[in-house]
Amino acid sequence: MAENISSAVIGRLPRYYRYLGDLKEAGVVRISSQELSKKMNVTASQIRQDFNNFGGFGQQGYGYNVELLYNEIGKILGLDKNFNMIIIGAGNLGQAIANYKDFDRRGFKLVGIFDVNPKLEGLSIRDIPIMSIDKLESFIKEHNVHIAALTIPKLHAPAIAKQLVDYGVKAIWNFAPVDLNLPEGFIVENVHLAESLMQLSYALTASERDSN
Ligand code: NAI
Repeated sequence: MAENISSAVIGRLPRYYRYLGDLKEAGVVRISSQELSKKMNVTASQIRQDFNNFGGFGQQGYGYNVELLYNEIGKILGLDKNFNMIIIGAGNLGQAIANYKDFDRRGFKLVGIFDVNPKLEGLSIRDIPIMSIDKLESFIKEHNVHIAALTIPKLHAPAIAKQLVDYGVKAIWNFAPVDLNLPEGFIVENVHLAESLMQLSYALTASERDSN
């Protein structure tokens, strides 16, 4: 597969994947870049440029084969694989993520939840046990844990993140509002809803300024 694809292109792939999934479900077999462009509100040339990074996905004659393109983008995103995931921090956010069944459907299998609060130990969410953080090391060493979602207070997040790396977790999905300073090359994806809300606030403020 092509190397050095820009993060902007990779960032657009999940949206292509979602649209193509909807088209597939609606029974659409082929689609041209123009039609896809209209639906997604992205220029057709942007779509073609994006897809050219991956060899163009063999557009022939009239448009792309929807199912083929959906499967190819899924493969690029690694969605044809299964990943074992744990959640560290079974508070409000950790529980909300644990309760969301759709991640399993996408191949992200929740295998364990960890917390320091002894009151939570022994409880489970969707049959997945909440375990003491003391069991983290042995659990990771016994299970093939690919991803750890970090939903603990920011004060504790860097230290736990370092342990996760040491114990052999492959990637961190970080929700704590703090930079984790992990070893170079370690895979981390930061998700900050507050930053998204700030962009919304900027757009609202700008539109109010324009209408005055
Ligand atoms: P919460 O207080 O409901 O839950 C935190 C949980 O972490 C508690 O159950 C606590 O016992 C546990 N915990 C604390 N230290 C721990 C440790 N060292 N090891 C294991 N478990 C530990 O908090 P909430 O609302 O669920 O938020 C959790 C984190 O997620 C916070 O850092 C918060 O700022 C962040 N957050 C991020 C969002 C985002 O968009 N990225 C949105 C909402 C919250």
